[in-house]
Amino acid sequence: MGECDEDVLLAIESTCDETAAAVVTRSGRVLGECIATQENLHEQFGGVVPEIAARAHLERILPVIDTSLRQAGVEGKDLHAIAVADRPGLAGSLLVGVVAAKSLALAWQKPLVAINHLHAHLYACQLSRTADGDASVYPAIGLIVSGGHTTLYLCRDAIDLEYLGGTIDDAAGEAFDKVAAMLSLGFPGGVAVARWAEKGDDQAFSFPRSKQHDGSYDFSFSGLKTAVRYAIVGPGRQDFSTLELSDEIKANVCASFEAAVVDVLVAKSRRAIREHGVPRLLVGGGVAANRRLRRQLEEAAEADGFDLVIAPPELCTDNAVMGAIAWKKIDRNDFATLDLDITPGLQRGF
Ligand code: KG4
Ligand code: ZN
Repeated sequence: MGECDEDVLLAIESTCDETAAAVVTRSGRVLGECIATQENLHEQFGGVVPEIAARAHLERILPVIDTSLRQAGVEGKDLHAIAVADRPGLAGSLLVGVVAAKSLALAWQKPLVAINHLHAHLYACQLSRTADGDASVYPAIGLIVSGGHTTLYLCRDAIDLEYLGGTIDDAAGEAFDKVAAMLSLGFPGGVAVARWAEKGDDQAFSFPRSKQHDGSYDFSFSGLKTAVRYAIVGPGRQDFSTLELSDEIKANVCASFEAAVVDVLVAKSRRAIREHGVPRLLVGGGVAANRRLRRQLEEAAEADGFDLVIAPPELCTDNAVMGAIAWKKIDRNDFATLDLDITPGLQRGF
């Protein structure tokens, strides 16, 4: 092994459209990391196409793993364990990561650890604090806002999480992407919608804050998406590529839409903190990069007196570094066997 005198593990992530691997030490140091994104493959379809994603993972997984090991100066024999996200996600995508991890575990005779990708997203918050030398971020409420998930958890510790609620239809990021598609802003569209929103009036359109006051921790963004559609084209068939909107209207739609999403996310997170009496909110997933969301969460944290930990931008989107959560499972002797199978789908209640 190279310079490192700490135990190291290899983490593999292939739940959606990022093929990623990382070599991380027990204390959370990243010795090697490689991510192959697929955005360019899915862009023309305006969303992730599962079959294309799976095939791309298959081509990339071994070079990505090899690159992260080389960067770390580590060989298979030096690893303490191999960790892989086995849930939730796209079936074909997950399968590539899990089969690669199982094959290497068998070939190198290393223990296998199965990671819940959503728990890992929240563990990214712990990693940012560990880097600062701070102690545990648990217990906390965890909010995951990504392209595939909008979920609230009560996190007793890194791997003991209770599902409180989540989206019953579109995820927050998915809604951003679909609004971007309607406005021809490209894919993934969250960043573009957020950029247009900065120039717009968030009161220009009165979009619904679905389920905000229903007393549950569930979310729904599909009605909001339809409201945006009706606001820009009305009901009926429409070819959005020929739609001509002024820059002012585009900006106002984006701002009003973004405000509606953020208001509900912030309101439910605040209530979860209050009702469970925990001191901290953890936020992960791609939409956590959204400036309005960050600002409103910071204001809520200040007003309500809770500690806010948002994952660092590079750990908000899918990555394998957050697979460092596997150490917590290793500490509890919680290993997977070579029978490990995938648990795909939109996970509810895990
Ligand atoms: O966590 P992530 O990589 O998604 C999944 O793998 O599920 O996050 C990607 C999502 C996309 O839907 C993207 O549009 C959204 O996060 N996103 C944003 C922003 N940056 C990325 N949404 C709103 N505002 C942003 N600044
Ligand atoms: Zn993710």
